[in-house]
Amino acid sequence: MVGIETEEMLEPADRPQRGPMSDHTSDPHPATDVPERSGAAPRALPEVLDAIADVEGWLTEAQATRLWQAATAVPSGGRIVEIGSFRGRSTIVLALAAPQAEVVAIDPHAGNDRGPQEIHGFEDAADEDFEVFHRNLAAAGVDERVRHVRRFSSEALTEVDGEIDVLYVDGAHRFGPARDDIVRWGRRVRPGGRLLVHDAFSSIGVTLALLTSVAVGADFEYVGRDGSLVEYRARSLTPPARAANLGRHLLQLPWFLRNVLVKVAIVTRLRPLARLLRHDGSTWPY
Ligand SMILES: C[S@@+](CC[C@H](N)C(=O)[O-])C[C@H]1O[C@@H](n2cnc3c(N)ncnc32)[C@H](O)[C@@H]1O
Repeated sequence: MVGIETEEMLEPADRPQRGPMSDHTSDPHPATDVPERSGAAPRALPEVLDAIADVEGWLTEAQATRLWQAATAVPSGGRIVEIGSFRGRSTIVLALAAPQAEVVAIDPHAGNDRGPQEIHGFEDAADEDFEVFHRNLAAAGVDERVRHVRRFSSEALTEVDGEIDVLYVDGAHRFGPARDDIVRWGRRVRPGGRLLVHDAFSSIGVTLALLTSVAVGADFEYVGRDGSLVEYRARSLTPPARAANLGRHLLQLPWFLRNVLVKVAIVTRLRPLARLLRHDGSTWPY
């Protein structure tokens, strides 16, 4: 999947500075294996957006709002798992929105698959990412309550017990690891729980991963998206619902094609193509 890796190309300077198929069987909320959580109320959305305003990352306000809504709906004692935290932008949203839930952030901070065009060769930035991640979480007052698992998601399945209420996938965007996250971690999402995936219908790897898993599967219903943040609800789909679900995915393909062309225009500096697509010419689509 070499082509998939090379499409993720963006100069660091362009990075914004401000801001799985299931065998769901068991009880949705086993009360026993989740530690008791704080009785604090979820932070209001404006406060949360304010808290991430200076945290580097690729989550837009509309996307943060969708994450916030999914996290606030998690029942007391529930569990949120994030794959790919980078410097904490999305982690802070999830943790501030859901003081009632366990929040697990899985990120190896190893310098790979860091962001657009940052697939390999960022080992020197890895420790800094790790330190800035914890500093940002501490500044938002959530470092103590987020459990950071500094491992690759494929090696972290045994680190999380029980079902997941909200799974947020934003780790490696190459086809293989992205599909692995959606499929293997997706199996852990309880019925009625949420799966959210970033860079959907934008990154070629993530899009192919979705098209070959949830789009053709019977376990996740497409709910909607904000930009490239797509949301699914875990539920068993009947054959007609499954066909409709596939149809909703296919409807996103023109937007996907546009995003791919925008990326081509940015990488090749083809301004006429960017203008034709009504794109400003430098902002990476996400
Ligand atoms: C696009 S960034 C995540 C951005 C973050 N969600 C935010 O809101 O700013 C991708 C992150 O995934 C991490 N990553 C790369 N490979 C991973 C893997 N196999 N498992 C978990 N995280 C991974 C990288 O270290 C990087 O921090």
